[in-house]
Amino acid sequence: MNPDMGTSLEEILQGLCETQKTISSKYFYDEHGSELFMEITRQPEYYLTRTEIGLLRHYADEITQEIGEDCLLIEYGSGSSEKIRILLENLRPMAYVPLDISKEYLAAAAGALALEFPWLEVHATCLDFTDDFRLPFTMDAKRVAFFPGSSIGNFGRTETGEFLGRVRRLVGQGGGMLIGVDLKKDPALLNAAYNDANGITESFNLNILNHLNEKFDADFDVSEFEHLAEYEADRGCVAMYLRSRANQEVDIAGTQIKFSAGERIHTENSHKYFADEFIDMARDAGFSEHKLWTDADEWFGVFYLS
Ligand code: AVJ
Repeated sequence: MNPDMGTSLEEILQGLCETQKTISSKYFYDEHGSELFMEITRQPEYYLTRTEIGLLRHYADEITQEIGEDCLLIEYGSGSSEKIRILLENLRPMAYVPLDISKEYLAAAAGALALEFPWLEVHATCLDFTDDFRLPFTMDAKRVAFFPGSSIGNFGRTETGEFLGRVRRLVGQGGGMLIGVDLKKDPALLNAAYNDANGITESFNLNILNHLNEKFDADFDVSEFEHLAEYEADRGCVAMYLRSRANQEVDIAGTQIKFSAGERIHTENSHKYFADEFIDMARDAGFSEHKLWTDADEWFGVFYLS
């Protein structure tokens, strides 16, 4: 049995007992969910991933110049993607430190990168990067955090400020952070990105119920829920929900949870920022300088905070 299963079952049940029922977005990423997310990144409506990769490629020299050589590159999440490869090739850091909560995933991703970049020192570090933590080693190098994908969007605005403050303290005086942030834009484009025509985001959202069925011995009938994603302008985020199609009762490891027809389970927030809004938050967190690279449409921003 998974050692954290007790506490996560409790967390799941607690979330489903609130007035606004909720399942944390971290439960999206079982094996199938991670595959579905990869597929989302290839959908024409989901501009985020390809825009960010385009920026990292196009501005690789400028980014490298800004950061400088021989840094200690700390990635928040482990690099399975094209993005860290682009950065490593150009930056040539002194060492690379992927941080991830999943030991198996971290070991596999770090191992692959160590083989691909034989000159690179890799210090895979298993921890929850949303906690306050210290690196378990010292190295005399400029610390640079890398947090791509607009993953920051999953945090609320208050949490984001606190998180940026912790990163600022971790990288210290002279350190920096390279971060990808999805920017505010026409709500029609945002709604399309989270409601792709192929229904991949719909499958991704619904799959969270399959995950609960398998991991927590639940009996959700997935066909009795529907995908909902909409930009909520007042909160500046795309919110995703699963809406119950009927009055129904679901059993989760022996606990019955009632759903009325039309009732929603909240599954994800994906916050969007104006560039200036994000820069202000970075300043409040203690970063005094910034550089911003953005695409011609200004849909996505890669920020270097220092
Ligand atoms: C991986 C959190 C950045 O919010 O856009 C994609 C996840 N959810 N489609 C995002 C996601 C629905 C994604 N992040």
